[in-house]
Amino acid sequence: MSRPTIIAGNWKLNPPRIDGNRLLEEVAEGLSAREFWPESLEVFLIPPLPYLGEWLVRGVSPPIAIGAQHCSPEGWGAFTGEVGVPVLADFGVKMILVGHSERRQRYCETDISVGVRVGRVVAAGVRPCLCVGETEAERDAHETFDVIERQLSAGLESVSADDEIVVAYEPVWAIGTGRSATPQQAAEVHRAIRSSLARQFGVQRADRTAILYGGSVNPGNASGLLAEPDIDGALVGGSSLVAGDFLGIIDRAIETRRGGPAVSK
Ligand code: 13P
Repeated sequence: MSRPTIIAGNWKLNPPRIDGNRLLEEVAEGLSAREFWPESLEVFLIPPLPYLGEWLVRGVSPPIAIGAQHCSPEGWGAFTGEVGVPVLADFGVKMILVGHSERRQRYCETDISVGVRVGRVVAAGVRPCLCVGETEAERDAHETFDVIERQLSAGLESVSADDEIVVAYEPVWAIGTGRSATPQQAAEVHRAIRSSLARQFGVQRADRTAILYGGSVNPGNASGLLAEPDIDGALVGGSSLVAGDFLGIIDRAIETRRGGPAVSK
């Protein structure tokens, strides 16, 4: 098995420009002071759209790469307010979140439109991060695995075994609530996701696909989550807005990979 560990910060609507640029600098400085293997650890910052222009023109240094939070299901044309995958890819965006529960719930994104978006992203040679996750009511009704399977099969409809994809399991009840899934709860869903990928794309492809956990990840609970063999990283909301917390989560990822504490250069 060889798959990357990915720590991604989804900034959502935040923060103001001055704070966002400082946050990028603090994260970049913090990373350059740490020792790790760039090929095994990827760090994504996924800010609001205007930052993309500023940062992608100026350039960001590896291991930081830039992602987008949203894309249109359309490529080009008269769709006011939307941003298309070809433009995002042209500007150097390396990953695009698709199907985040906030978009499914508040902006009427359906399983089908999520699948169309994922298809556009892979066609442009960019990695989609397909977000799946059940609501609390669905979990209480023992529907978690059915919901995940439905979201995966519709979301990955246009994907082939050669496409690079990332999947993020984000239980809706854990997002922004401070109530993370336990490592055991997350791990059993991650295992189910990997089995589903294996059925659809074959075992080798499934083994190479990073499956991230998202929902109230912080430096205190990251170790337990990342120690699970099928949890390959984190999609972080609130804690990605504080450089020390985000770097703390990255340290937990480095420690899990190394089997020992993160070290400074
Ligand atoms: P929180 O880490 O704030 O719970 O957000 C998770 C999330 O939605 C990341 O996409």
